[in-house]
Amino acid sequence: MTPVVAVLGSLNMDFVVSVETLPSPGQTVLGSRFQMLPGGKGANQACACGRLGAGKVRARIAGRVGYDLFADHLKASLSAAGVDVSAVHATRSHPTGVALIWVDRQGQNSIVVASGANHAFAATDVNGLRATFSDASYALFQLETPLETVEAGLALARSEGARTMLDPAPAAPLPRHLLQFVDILTPNESEASVLLGRPAARLTIAEARQAAAALREQTGVATVVMKLGEQGCFWLDADREVYAPGFPVKAVDTTAAGDTFNAGLAVALAEGLDAAPALRFANAAAALSVTQPGAQASIPPRAGVERFLLEQQG
Ligand code: RIB
Repeated sequence: MTPVVAVLGSLNMDFVVSVETLPSPGQTVLGSRFQMLPGGKGANQACACGRLGAGKVRARIAGRVGYDLFADHLKASLSAAGVDVSAVHATRSHPTGVALIWVDRQGQNSIVVASGANHAFAATDVNGLRATFSDASYALFQLETPLETVEAGLALARSEGARTMLDPAPAAPLPRHLLQFVDILTPNESEASVLLGRPAARLTIAEARQAAAALREQTGVATVVMKLGEQGCFWLDADREVYAPGFPVKAVDTTAAGDTFNAGLAVALAEGLDAAPALRFANAAAALSVTQPGAQASIPPRAGVERFLLEQQG
C-alpha cells in the first residue's frame, strides 16, 4: 500500500520583495522584484511531500483558509502537487493567512506572518480529523496554528498510529504536555536555542550534538534532528547518532528550505529508508530549494533530487 504523510498546518499567501539588505528597525529600504507566491509552513511541507513523494507517498493537509481568492490559489497550488486538500476548510471569521517576506542578496529572509484563518483552526476542529490520520505513517506539524490545535493534532495522530514530527517553527517555548506526543523534533539552530533557553548562535557539529542531547533530555522527545543550514543536519536518538553533511549550492532564497527538509525526511522515512539515506535525501531536497526563489515555487520534484544525488556521487 502507498504510504501516507498527513500534515496539519498553515496556508499563507506570501508577499515577497527582493531587497539589497534586510531593513533594520525604523529603516526604509527600496526593494526590487515583488511576487505573490503560495506559502505557509504547513502548506509548504504538504506541497513538498506531494512533489517529493511523486506517487510513491501520498500527501494530504488539514488547514484553514478564508473565503477569498488567495484560498483558491493556495489550494490549487497544493492540488497541482498531488496533495489531497479535502481537509482544508474555509472560515467566514478570518481572511486567508498572509506572510510578508523580504529576501536579501545572500538569500536570507525576514518574515512577518498575519495568521488570519490559520488561527481560527480550533483544537475542537481536530475531532473531525480522524480520517486524515488513520492511515498515515507520518504526521507533520509546525507552529503557525494555535498550540492547542497542534497538541490535539499530535495526540490524535499518535493515537491513530502515525509517527509524529514537529517542526518547532516559528520558534516558541513548548510545554511538556504537548511534547509528550512528539516522536521526532526538528529544530534549526535558533529554534533549538529558544527551546533550551540559550542565546542564539551558529553551532559546530559537536555543539549541535550537545544541543540535540540536551533537547532529548529536556523535552523527552526520543529523536531530535538538528537542522544546521548549509552544514547539513544531525540526528540523535537512543540508539544512534548520524551526521549528514549539507550540499554546497549557491543560495538565492532560503524560504521554505526547512519545510522542504522536513517533508523530504518524512517521505524517505515513510518509504522505509534508514536515517542516514533519509537525511541525505532531505538535505538534497533542501539544498535544491534554496537555489530557487519562493516557498512552494522552490520545492524540487523527486526526479530533480534523485538526479542531483547521482551527480553528487559521480
Ligand atoms: O517556512 C516558510 C514560510 O514561513 C513561508 O512560506 C511563510 O508563509 C511563513 O509561513
